[in-house]
Amino acid sequence: MAGGDGGGTVYVTRLLTDDAMAAVAALGRPVVAGREEPPTREDVLRDVAGAVAVVATLTDRVDAAVLDAAGPGLRVVANVAVGYDNVDVAAARARGVVVTNTPGVLDDATADLTMGLVLAAARRIPEGDRFLRRGTPWVWGPRMMTGLDLSAGATLGIVGYGRIGRAVARRARGFGMRLLATPSRSRVYDADADGVRFAELDDLLAEADVVTLHVPLTDATRHLIGAAALARMKPTALLVNTARGGVVDTEAMVEALRAGRIGGAALDVFEDEPHVDPRLLELEQVVLTPHLGSAGDRTRSAMCLLAVRNVAAVLAGDPPLTPV
Ligand code: DGY
Repeated sequence: MAGGDGGGTVYVTRLLTDDAMAAVAALGRPVVAGREEPPTREDVLRDVAGAVAVVATLTDRVDAAVLDAAGPGLRVVANVAVGYDNVDVAAARARGVVVTNTPGVLDDATADLTMGLVLAAARRIPEGDRFLRRGTPWVWGPRMMTGLDLSAGATLGIVGYGRIGRAVARRARGFGMRLLATPSRSRVYDADADGVRFAELDDLLAEADVVTLHVPLTDATRHLIGAAALARMKPTALLVNTARGGVVDTEAMVEALRAGRIGGAALDVFEDEPHVDPRLLELEQVVLTPHLGSAGDRTRSAMCLLAVRNVAAVLAGDPPLTPV
């Protein structure tokens, strides 16, 4: 047995893709694996006991209690997501536990879904689909169900010009959109070379026809888009969120949507996931998807495999590939 850590288990909280489960088995350690559905808190606290490694997903809260329940043998928590707001990184560090995430492998999938949501909201695609399914009588008309033309120089405001924000910019440029962005805190890109203009958040909010969010959820970004930010947006502007629900103040957004202070929203993530505020379900100008940003077959496989490769590296005494 590798390691010198008494043969601790690898605890995988949810069933991963087949290739990743095979990679877990190949670690040569006893495996405790959850099911496809999320474990309860009690399940986690029981099943993590004796783990040398935990492969967690964004639905698992990995806090001090979980780290303590694992015991002193725990060496790595590998999160199957680029976001790691579900992990208490400070508590892990204090216990000498490495935390890893899965950056890079989901940029394109998330940017694809973002553009899908931009188009869906701008051109009212789900609304048109519901309209037909209801059996509404219709005939083509010059004023029928018009929406925002992306290619007529509409401005996309990218909040957080990191990897995913940049992948969104690449796609939006193909649609002929004008691009504004707030710089990322962690990555530096040459905005000029990308055809993007960096702007202060307030200016971006005031100028954009579509605002799309690509910042991680941290203490600094929680409710970044609250009543004041929403008030700066154009009354026709669309808000797209494929980042984390907590970046937006749901209460303020629902109020702004209901009052017509913004034009619409397309949301893949929610503040109290998986709960979706029922008031959002009633609004025609809101597009909703169930956290599908990274849900491409190959992308999910790449995320799961990267998490397992991080575990393998740490257990072999090597540096993790993608530490947070
Ligand atoms: C992430 O990786 O943080 C995404 O939200 C997963 O879909």
